[in-house]
Order: sequence, then C-alpha cells, then structure tokens
Amino acid sequence: MIPEKTVGLHAKKHRLEHSAQHIAKGVLAIMRNRTDTEANAVEKWVLVENEFLIVLFAVLDDANLPNLAPYLATGKNSLIYHLQTVLQRPVVLSNHSGVRVAVLVSRSEKSHLSKNVAFPGWRKGILQIGVRPGEKPLNTRWEKLGHLLIAGMTQAGKSNFLRSITIQARSEGFKLLLADPDGRTFSFMEDASQLLAPVANTLESCENIVEAALQEIIRRTDCFNLLANKPDNIDEYNARTKEELPRLLVVLDEFNGTVMATGGARGDFAQKTTQIAWRGAKFGVHLVLAGQDFAKDIVGPVREQMSTRFCFQVSNASTSKVVLGKSGAEKIKHPGRALSNRWGMVQTYLVSKANLIQRDPVSGMTSNEKRLAVHLKEQANGQMKLSLLQDYLKVGERQARRLRADWLSRGLAEKVPHQNNGIYLAG
Ligand SMILES: Nc1ncnc2c1ncn2[C@@H]1O[C@H](COP(=O)(O)OP(=O)(O)OP(=O)(O)O)[C@@H](O)[C@H]1O
Ligand SMILES: [Mg+2]
Repeated sequence: MIPEKTVGLHAKKHRLEHSAQHIAKGVLAIMRNRTDTEANAVEKWVLVENEFLIVLFAVLDDANLPNLAPYLATGKNSLIYHLQTVLQRPVVLSNHSGVRVAVLVSRSEKSHLSKNVAFPGWRKGILQIGVRPGEKPLNTRWEKLGHLLIAGMTQAGKSNFLRSITIQARSEGFKLLLADPDGRTFSFMEDASQLLAPVANTLESCENIVEAALQEIIRRTDCFNLLANKPDNIDEYNARTKEELPRLLVVLDEFNGTVMATGGARGDFAQKTTQIAWRGAKFGVHLVLAGQDFAKDIVGPVREQMSTRFCFQVSNASTSKVVLGKSGAEKIKHPGRALSNRWGMVQTYLVSKANLIQRDPVSGMTSNEKRLAVHLKEQANGQMKLSLLQDYLKVGERQARRLRADWLSRGLAEKVPHQNNGIYLAG
C-alpha cells in the first residue's frame, strides 16, 4: 500500500496541506473498504491551485491495475458517487493523461482580476474606482472617501487614476484645484469651468493651489459659523441652507517632488497641505496626494488623515509599508493595479479619451448626448424610441437598448406608467 504520508510530498508547504491530507485519508479509506477497489490503486497525490480552484488529484497506477472499470464507473453504486457523498465535495474523474480522481479542496482566493477594465461611464453620487478579484465593481461614495493618498512608480497608473477621480468629481459639479507639475496629467482640464484657479504647472502656482484651498476652508469655516449649532459636515450644512457649498477636490500630483523643491517637510507648501488634510474634510474638501515615493517625514504628519490609500506598483517594500502599513505593492506587475488599505487589490478603471470629454455639471451629459436629447424631443416628444435611436446613432437594436438602459440608470430617462410604460427623457 502507498503510505498515506505521500500526500505530504506533493502538497508540501501549501496552506491547505492539512485539508488535503484529510481528504486523501478519506479517499484511501473508501477505496480500501469497497469490494471493487483497493487503496494501493493510488500512485501519487498532486495538489494543484489555479486562479479559481484548489484541487487534489489522486493519480491512479493505471498501468498496474488489473481492472480499471470500477474506477471509471458512474452511477449510484460507483466509487465516484461514493466519494462525493462521503467527502461532501465535488469529485470528478479525469482521464486525459492517465486516470485521476479530482477532489475539490477549496475555491481559490486568487480568483481572477482583469488587467484592463474600461471606465464604465459616470454614475451620479457614486465614485467608481475599479474592479476587485472576481470582477466585482468597487464603488464608494464621496462622503465615505475622505482624503486620498496615491503612490506608485513611474508608469504604474497614477495619472490615469487621478483623471478617473477628477472627471467623476467634475461631473458631480465639484469645484477643482489641480496641481500638475509635469503637465501630463491634467492638460485636458485646462478649460474646465469648475477650476478655482488654473491648473498649476510651476512650483509657484502649485504653492498658490494650496493657498487657495486653505482660503476656501477659511471661507467655509465662516459660513458654518453663521449657523446656530454649527453643522458637523457639509451635507448637514447644505441641508440647512439655501446656498449650497459644492464639494472641492484638491489634487496635488508629484506631491513628494513639490515638497522637496519647496523647503521640505517644514516648508510652507508641506505645512499648508497638512492643514488642508486636518481641517478640510468636514467642509467637503477632498485632498488627493499622488507621488512616486513618499518619504516618512513628509507623509507622517498627514498619513492618519488620508483615510483612503492606494499603492500602485512601487520599487520596494518600504514604500508600500509607509503608505499602507504593509508590504505587497512591490510585487504588483500590471499598470493600473493597486493595493489599497480599505479594499485589498483593485484594478482601477482605465479612462479613455472619450471619457475626458466635458460633461454638463448638472446633467452629466456630453454635448453629443444633449444633441440626441433635443432630437428625441423634436421627433417623438422625448420618447426614447429604439427605432429613432438606431436611426440617429446608426447602431443596431442591441446598442440602442444598451444606451436606453444607461440613460435610465443615470437618471436621464424614466419609465412613464401612464404612457404605456414608455421610456421618456426625464424631467
Ligand atoms: N487602470 C489602468 N489599466 C490599464 N492600463 C493602465 C491603467 N492605468 C495606466 N495604464 C497604462 O500605464 C501607462 C502609464 O500610466 P500613467 O501615466 O497613469 O502612469 P503614472 O503612474 O502617472 O506614471 P508617471 O509617474 O510617469 O507620471 C498608461 O499609458 C497606460 O497604458
Ligand atoms: Mg503621472
């Protein structure tokens, strides 16, 4: 008989070795106890893990078995059925390359994560970040986001991620303050009407950005002070006043570099940024700091205020530790993939040129979409007839349906019960 400890030789050091041993013992006991099979039919055990499953293979010594039929049989009295009921897990027969009995040990934790996922388009009130393993969309809400810290070596995907966040903020109608010393991240935003100051490309203008953010915080502090029982946050303030304060997104790309060039951690720029981090959240100010590396003395004063942190691929484990408190991001291989302190590994959405197109801050519509809406109003009293969409956009029925579903989910269209449940432009 093959000694049972053989399992250990093939399943060495695997975290599920113990479970595999247990399952192997069960398989051997059943084979030994049945009249038509025997335990020494198993030549070796192999434990295999892929992206989805962890499977234990009992490889049969088929060359030396006098009769394979009992091992290959199916049906109520078969070995396979017997194993399945006693082990209480899926068992299948594989005979591609010799006869093997495969027992499912567990689903793999490393379930699939795509390398390239396109940004699916803006959704009101939701910040869409990317996908998690198993292709699960990762969405959050701005009020839960707080401030953001983003690290990653060159070409890791920081600028793309900053654009994704910024276009979503723009569509929500946020005010914007953007520092882009390299001039490569935000050139498409230069004409945005929501900018409180031009996109900053020089050290001096970067310093002006943090000064403008601080002034805005001071202005908002005064607004809050005017109300009896000071509001706790911007949502409470807006609920109690007629003149709503929009949220403000402050993005400082290449943060570490700018700090180094403006007097270091004790310089004016770093000190003002620290103040924004400490004072801004309650007034609806979201600070986003991005850089290739973060020196400890630079990030130390703000780290605890940066409630959401992403580390794209970095060159060493210590940067990952400074940003996330743990190593791991140094092992990332794909652009756009990041380890976060709140959600584990994420593949961030890739933003295409089409996504960078200016949208109406209130409706979130692009100018093309607005033209289509006008056409629908003129031709069908606002009804989103499929034939009309197909005709206007030169697309098939499926695409027209998809567009209609998209507009429904964005609140641009609605079903009207008293019009035969037809789909009409909202409002
Ligand atoms: N989310 C993503 N999914 C797939 N590919 C991506 C993603 N983000 C970035 N990339 C790819 O990686 C390249 C570099 O991305 P990006 O410019 O955002 O890097 P970066 O971290 O800002 O680099 P640098 O520090 O040099 O500015 C992009 O041109 C794109 O091809
Ligand atoms: Mg960049």
